[in-house]
Amino acid sequence: SLQSVYVTRPDVDVSGLDLLRKSCNVTTWSQSLPVPRDELLRQVQGKDALYCVLTDKIDAAVLDAAGEKLKCVSTMSVGFEHIDVQECKKRGIRVGYTPDVLTDATAELTLALLLATNRRLFEANKQVYNGGWKSWAPMWMCGQGLKNSRVGLYGFGRIGQEIASRILPFKPAQITYTTRTARPEEAAKVNARRVDFDEMLCLSDFIVICCALTPETKEIFNAAAFEKMKANCIFINTSRGGVVDQNALYDALHSKRILAAGLDVTTPEPLPLDSPLLKLDNIVVLPHIGSADIETRKEMSRITARNILAALKGCEMEAEVI
Ligand code: GLV
Ligand code: GLV
Repeated sequence: SLQSVYVTRPDVDVSGLDLLRKSCNVTTWSQSLPVPRDELLRQVQGKDALYCVLTDKIDAAVLDAAGEKLKCVSTMSVGFEHIDVQECKKRGIRVGYTPDVLTDATAELTLALLLATNRRLFEANKQVYNGGWKSWAPMWMCGQGLKNSRVGLYGFGRIGQEIASRILPFKPAQITYTTRTARPEEAAKVNARRVDFDEMLCLSDFIVICCALTPETKEIFNAAAFEKMKANCIFINTSRGGVVDQNALYDALHSKRILAAGLDVTTPEPLPLDSPLLKLDNIVVLPHIGSADIETRKEMSRITARNILAALKGCEMEAEVI
């Protein structure tokens, strides 16, 4: 009989679903919203593979509910902190994800967000509609350019390196990066210098977060970190909201301890409409659209499917969390 796959969204690109349907029985959740927990626990029973997204918490309870047959959890994302990988390993369940394919799209969105924040695009755009635009004025809606600035990248993996190469044409004075691993060859390509966390905090005009969320990076941007930043610092985060103590970020923005922030990721997501962050005028918030490029999302749907097909055949997966 055919192997069975549960897909937690009905609207992943059809090209990925079609790959699965050729050789598997595919069931999908019916709505363009996260599958409710009890529905997931029910639907995963007896499945051979689970196709999930970053809003699904895949923990021991889900794996227990699935039972003996489950061989693979495949997420349509590069981040996998929503999956308890250790619990998967214990049960011999393989975990697939989608790095690489979304690197360029995410780096592009990061630059868009950085430029929207530093040149105050959304704030300025509002003035066009609300009558705030009275006249061209010498110092009105001025921002802080990247030219001659110091940019500090927190994280220098695939995405961080692509962000650096896109920042370079804007003629910064210096790109620095903070990482556990040195990566000297990658750094040489973009003239980046490795600095420790404190130096990055104290000297950067722009701080760009491009690390994974792990126990070590969880809320590493806390009140003490914001306290060390320059008053003109612009803080950009396109990785995970959990890397930041969001109350501390609010305080830093509200008190003008730092100049501005651009966030594509928050805690929680969506950000409640009454969140104090949304009352600030020195912030740009986007709804987690880093990889939301059409071709990228289509290819992500196919890689997620191919990871499942490979795991079900006992073959090497295109991208496996190991
Ligand atoms: C997006 O945030 C991803 O992890 O793919
Ligand atoms: C701006 O529009 C200028 O002409 O300087």
